[in-house]
Amino acid sequence: MSARKLSIGVLVSGQGTNLQAIIDATSSGKIDASIKIVISDNPNAYALKRAEDSGLPSKVLKRSAFKTKVDFEEAAVGVLSEHGVELVCLAGFMRILGKTLLRAFPMRIINIHPALLPAFPGLNAQEQAFDYGVKVTGCTVHFVDEKTDHGPIILQEAVTILEEDTVASLKAKILKKEHEAYPKAIKLFAQGRLKIENRRVCIMP
Ligand code: GAR
Repeated sequence: MSARKLSIGVLVSGQGTNLQAIIDATSSGKIDASIKIVISDNPNAYALKRAEDSGLPSKVLKRSAFKTKVDFEEAAVGVLSEHGVELVCLAGFMRILGKTLLRAFPMRIINIHPALLPAFPGLNAQEQAFDYGVKVTGCTVHFVDEKTDHGPIILQEAVTILEEDTVASLKAKILKKEHEAYPKAIKLFAQGRLKIENRRVCIMP
């Protein structure tokens, strides 16, 4: 049993189903972590309602309220630090991180991407995979580095694309896997079981 819970901050922009999966896993005790703050760059994100419903503190940082990306990220670092955050989880946070956040939390920022990286990075990954015609896609949880959707990979879950699938059904199938993979990855981090060797993330027993 670990002595102390890992303090996490979750950055969101949208519907927040991954945030919900993390809320459920932390509040049920499935993972030894607690969410200290939810930050949204979008004041209308449904994720904010999920935070409120779960009694979690949240903060809106609108990108347009800041002159530069550095100013925006300095504010985010301030809020995360104020709440004692040790691990930052990007959960549908639709902004590319800059050096300010990355340097404040080196190898302590993780992201979930709806494809099997390095295939289909960037936006609309599920549609990219569908249109390309791949038979297998999925989701990836990875550490964030200075390149988009590039950092060391923690976990991947595969999803088969069937004849009857549409982009919408594929998105739903991937999202379901995301909700399993993200808490699993956070759990491994909280247990101190992730060791990064170059690009490889070793999962320690
Ligand atoms: C998820 O599918 C996540 O993988 C994706 O946005 C969705 C957010 O859903 N993220 C990216 O595409 C980041 N490049 P959610 O708000 O319901 O968690």
